Amino acid sequence: MSNSIRRIGKIGVAGSGAMGRGIAESCLRAGASVLLQDTSAAALRAARKQIERSLQHSVDKGIVEAKNIEAWLSQLEVSEDVAAFMSCDLVIEAVPEIPDLKLEVLKRIEKNVRDVTIIATNTSSIPVTKLSSSLMDPSRFLGLHFFNPVPRMNLAEVIPTVLTDSTVTAAVEYFVREQLEKTPLTVADRPGFAVNALLIPYLLSAARMLDLSYASADDIDNAMKLGCGHPMGPLELSDFIGLDVVAAVAGSIYAETKDHACIVPNNLRRLVEAGQTGRKSGQGFFKYADNVPTTSGPQST
Ligand SMILES: NC(=O)c1ccc[n+]([C@@H]2O[C@H](COP(=O)([O-])OP(=O)(O)OC[C@H]3O[C@@H](n4cnc5c(N)ncnc54)[C@H](O)[C@@H]3O)[C@@H](O)[C@H]2O)c1
Repeated sequence: MSNSIRRIGKIGVAGSGAMGRGIAESCLRAGASVLLQDTSAAALRAARKQIERSLQHSVDKGIVEAKNIEAWLSQLEVSEDVAAFMSCDLVIEAVPEIPDLKLEVLKRIEKNVRDVTIIATNTSSIPVTKLSSSLMDPSRFLGLHFFNPVPRMNLAEVIPTVLTDSTVTAAVEYFVREQLEKTPLTVADRPGFAVNALLIPYLLSAARMLDLSYASADDIDNAMKLGCGHPMGPLELSDFIGLDVVAAVAGSIYAETKDHACIVPNNLRRLVEAGQTGRKSGQGFFKYADNVPTTSGPQST
């Protein structure tokens, strides 16, 4: 496949969860058209509502004009049908971090797009090269890893494999820099890419310290907020990312590296097993009411 650098007009996003809807919103704000696809109609309804709320919030804060919202929302289509991707220039997969599911979804996406469509995965940690094995044409495929919440986070990792056509990498770097106005960080397909290779051992260390009763959850978080100027402590950040996501990413990095720093501590694993996956479930290391941490305490489950 060959792609000269050109503006991407329509973006497809598979999966309308925390990341998919954030990616969709960022693309809308950049003036692009978006087709947001999910197998769950309820998830699509929730995603549209959340995008509307987030855009309205920007109007209320005086960051954007109200007339923009109508124009942006008119560019948003939602569908449960993967065949709707046929009109897209770029399709970004953002379904749960389950290798077999991603392989299956990517295969289905490729069957439903044009030859020139670029396909990307938002995986946090699954080797992009491994995912490319599901495609007939891996030269059109790469990792494009956004951060949560996407509209506010200005970095996107671009992860080409050895099979990715260099023009595809250039087109995606251009899309991130010139259209989304975010910073593209092109990084090799190594365990955890750049950000998670640094972040995950740090988050797991905080959970391990809590498990070993170094200090309370509040105090561990305050150590990094007050002592190092971090806007969020590691336990609150883990809850924000989703403890299931943190555990899945750690598992993928560990599978490749056998680095003990990526072994999931018992307390975190138990919370995930109990469905207490953090902010999205209302309970993780902290309890949440109206999306604000309310109470805390060691969770040596
Ligand atoms: N949460 C984060 O902070 C974060 C950050 C960066 C990257 N990621 C990565 O982004 C991806 C998505 O994470 P998330 O947090 O948005 O997950 P999520 O669980 O919030 O959303 C996943 C969505 O995918 C949908 N889905 C499931 N199967 C599908 C299918 N076959 N076709 C279409 N849609 C399907 C679900 O209905 C759900 O709406 C994962 O790979 C994750 O590792 C997450």
